[in-house]
Amino acid sequence: MPQTNRLTLYNAKGGTGKTTVGINVAGALAQRGKSVCFVDLDPQGNATEGLGFVEIYDLEDPNLLDHLLEADRDPSELVLEHEEFDVIPSNVEMLNAEYELSIDDYEGYPAVEYLDDLLDDLDGQWDYILIDAPPFFGEITDNALYASKNVLIPALTESTSERAVELLLDQIVRLEREEDIFVDEIAAVANRVETNNEAERMKEWMESAFPDIPVFNVRKRVALQRAHSEGVSIFKHEESSDMEAVFLEIADAVIEHFGDTQ
Ligand SMILES: Nc1ncnc2c1ncn2[C@@H]1O[C@H](COP(=O)(O)OP(=O)(O)O)[C@@H](O)[C@H]1O
Ligand SMILES: [Mg+2]
Repeated sequence: MPQTNRLTLYNAKGGTGKTTVGINVAGALAQRGKSVCFVDLDPQGNATEGLGFVEIYDLEDPNLLDHLLEADRDPSELVLEHEEFDVIPSNVEMLNAEYELSIDDYEGYPAVEYLDDLLDDLDGQWDYILIDAPPFFGEITDNALYASKNVLIPALTESTSERAVELLLDQIVRLEREEDIFVDEIAAVANRVETNNEAERMKEWMESAFPDIPVFNVRKRVALQRAHSEGVSIFKHEESSDMEAVFLEIADAVIEHFGDTQ
């Protein structure tokens, strides 16, 4: 079976567009004929709710946290079908994940590897797994980076982004050293771009911060919010949007990064 390529939407600042960019890149990969599983690793479950699985978020069993902590369970029972791609939903129990994972870590268990192990059990089922990380640094985000070893970085074109991007790059370096791994940056996405001087300056700053990878521009568009409220990506949302072309370009960059050209 071919290996499933994995990537994480990564930026510990909230509201930068991890969930929005993630859902729409997943939709774009599906448009390109790729099979995708979207993993909502954010305890707040925004993607889970947005994609129409709000009742599943409150389900006691199965839940993602138990599956992370209990290696012998079959994670395929977590997988839900969405019209564009499959979904592993978040769960209210994930609110305890930082605590539970740090206890295991403290007790000497390899807690950083739990998501990697879980996804290994599902390997080969899809072309891509996209992991929507929570808006903070910690055990959950380290699990996402460790499992995927590839990141797509959405950042806002406002001045607070500079520090957020510097911090996240520091965290990648820290984890690389601690775990002796390499985490690859696939692309950065300047998100919610508006036409003003600050946005122009930040786009330039992002291009200088990421000289070796593509930096895409996703403009501020209500169509993206409306699609989210309808539980779909912009590709399945009735109103057409000029951002579809941008998300297809991002999907193509992902496909090229993994050398997955068929
Ligand atoms: N390009 C965009 N245009 C308009 N609204 C956007 C755009 N990207 C994100 N949003 C909105 O901004 C808010 C935060 O985005 P979200 O994807 O939830 O960020 P994160 O997952 O990083 O916290 C959401 O309400 C979302 O609908
Ligand atoms: Mg989010």
